[in-house]
This record gives sequence, C-alpha cells and structure tokens, in this order.
Amino acid sequence: MLTVALPKGRLGDKVYARLEAAGYICRDMTDESRKLVFENEAAGVRYLLVKPTDVCVYVERGAADVGIAGKDVICETEAKVYELLDLGIGKCRMAVAAKRGFTDNPGRTLRVATKFVNIANKHYSDLGRNIDIIPLHGSIELAPIVGLSDVIVDIVESGSTLRENDLVVIEEFMQISARFIANVSSYKFKEAEITGMVSALKEVEK
Ligand code: PRP
Repeated sequence: MLTVALPKGRLGDKVYARLEAAGYICRDMTDESRKLVFENEAAGVRYLLVKPTDVCVYVERGAADVGIAGKDVICETEAKVYELLDLGIGKCRMAVAAKRGFTDNPGRTLRVATKFVNIANKHYSDLGRNIDIIPLHGSIELAPIVGLSDVIVDIVESGSTLRENDLVVIEEFMQISARFIANVSSYKFKEAEITGMVSALKEVEK
C-alpha cells in the first residue's frame, strides 16, 4: 500500500479530481470532513490530508511515500525528495509586488514581506540586493498598504488579490504548478507501485 500526502484547500480540489480520473478515487474523501486519513484498499492507496505547506515534510521524512505539492512549497522547504511529474494544475507565479507608483531606491535596504522567506532571500541574493525580510503567515498584501514593507514576495494566481488591494506586479520570477513527489527510499523499495501511479496520472493528462 502507498501512503500519499495530499494538500487540503484550494489546490486539494483539483488534485482529488485528477486522482479520481486516474483511477485512485476515494469516495468519502472531501475537504468538508474533519477526517484526515482515507483509504482505498482496492487501489492500494492511503491518503493523508495535510496543509499544503506540510506535504514535503511528510514525504521527505517517509511518513508518506509520495505526495502532491506546489513547486513553491518544494523550493521553500528545500525538501530532498524526487520530483517525478509536473501535473500542470494549480498554476501560478511567484512575484514581487508593491503599491502602484513604488520605485526602488537601491541605496536603501528593501523591506520584503513574505510567507516564502527562503525563496525571497535566494531571489534577492542572486540579484545582490540588500533586504530586510518580514516573515508573515497570510494576508501578505496588507504589508505594503500599511507601510510594514516596501514590497511583497507572494504567489499570484488570478491577480485579483493584488488588484483589489491596489498593488501591482513588479517582477515575476518563478512558474509554479503541482508536482508529484516521492520519498527517496520509498522510490527504491516501492518503485513499481510509484511508477504505476505516475503513469496513470500522466495518462489522464493527455
Ligand atoms: C494566496 C496568496 C495571495 C493569493 C493570490 O493566498 O498568498 O494572497 O492567494 O491569489 P490570486 O492571485 O488568485 O488572488 P491564500 O489564498 O493562500 O491566503 P492567505 O492570505 O491566507 O495566505
């Protein structure tokens, strides 16, 4: 049996639909239920429903054999996992955004609010730009509005959160989508089951 870590929430719905199409359905698995473990014995899978940002932790440490996580989360956690398939769902971009009219003064330290501390640090260190990271857990768009930061580094999907808060994208620097990932030793010992699942998921993509 394969243990599969799946994200709850916005990405979750798209992921469950893709699994269902690939023959790995779990009829009673819904986001509304408070249950966290679901099994489909016939398909040989046990699902763990976890916070999207925690999928890599479960897979890297072997509590799950495989999982589905956003590329943003994989980069942010720097998880040592195998990335086996780009599912092409949950597409969005990692972007720098600011209040309309903002101009950067390279002589000053740039204040950057973000949930993605490692990604933001790496981005600005590649640019050689001095920054002060302001770590937040949500509602990131508020930071520049109230003067807590100069810019934000965050994911943009439809762009409506930025628009509704009168912020604009300054720069996009990473394309994101959901990836099928595997634990390094599970891939060795359960290779047939894992590649079977990858093939089935690939098949429905077509
Ligand atoms: C994410 C992200 C943006 C928003 C972007 O937040 O941090 O705020 O989605 O999506 P959009 O471009 O379609 O508007 P999330 O919904 O995860 O909520 P959060 O503010 O609690 O992090």
